[in-house]
Amino acid sequence: MTPGRFEYFQEVLTDKLSTEYSRLKALDIGSGGGFLAEEFAKKGFAVVGIDPSAVSVETARAHAEAGGLSIEYRVGVGEKLPVDDATFDVAYCCDVLEHVADLDKTISETARVLKPGGVYLFDTVNRTMVSKLVMIKLFSDHLR
Ligand SMILES: C[S@@+](CC[C@H](N)C(=O)[O-])C[C@H]1O[C@@H](n2cnc3c(N)ncnc32)[C@H](O)[C@@H]1O
Repeated sequence: MTPGRFEYFQEVLTDKLSTEYSRLKALDIGSGGGFLAEEFAKKGFAVVGIDPSAVSVETARAHAEAGGLSIEYRVGVGEKLPVDDATFDVAYCCDVLEHVADLDKTISETARVLKPGGVYLFDTVNRTMVSKLVMIKLFSDHLR
């Protein structure tokens, strides 16, 4: 999925921001294994990835290091982001919003850490019973 969603995000970023990505900071909320963080880092963004899973953070960190990518990973949750106010040009939250305990807090925290005029990117599943059973219960909770 990563090439497809990143291609779309890049279209939005080209439209909304300069293409001089090397001066820009991006926050990956729920960074998981770091698939998207690495795509953003390869484009030149300074990326910070946040995830509640210490195992995922460690795995993502090791993968980035092995690939020669400089990405900062921290353990934390979307509801209480361990970063300063108005820091990021871009924040993205992909396949994560369906998992957070408090959606409103996660969104307001994201607004807090984005610079004025910053870009927010997200994707999530439709809020249906099938999504809940397959994407959350089966693919996430069950495989933990
Ligand atoms: C389906 S994975 C998506 C990972 C990554 N964003 C991607 O697209 O490859 C969902 C991720 O959300 C994280 N997560 C769960 N609850 C969270 C929360 N409250 N705040 C931030 N991330 C959370 C999980 O630890 C997991 O890494």
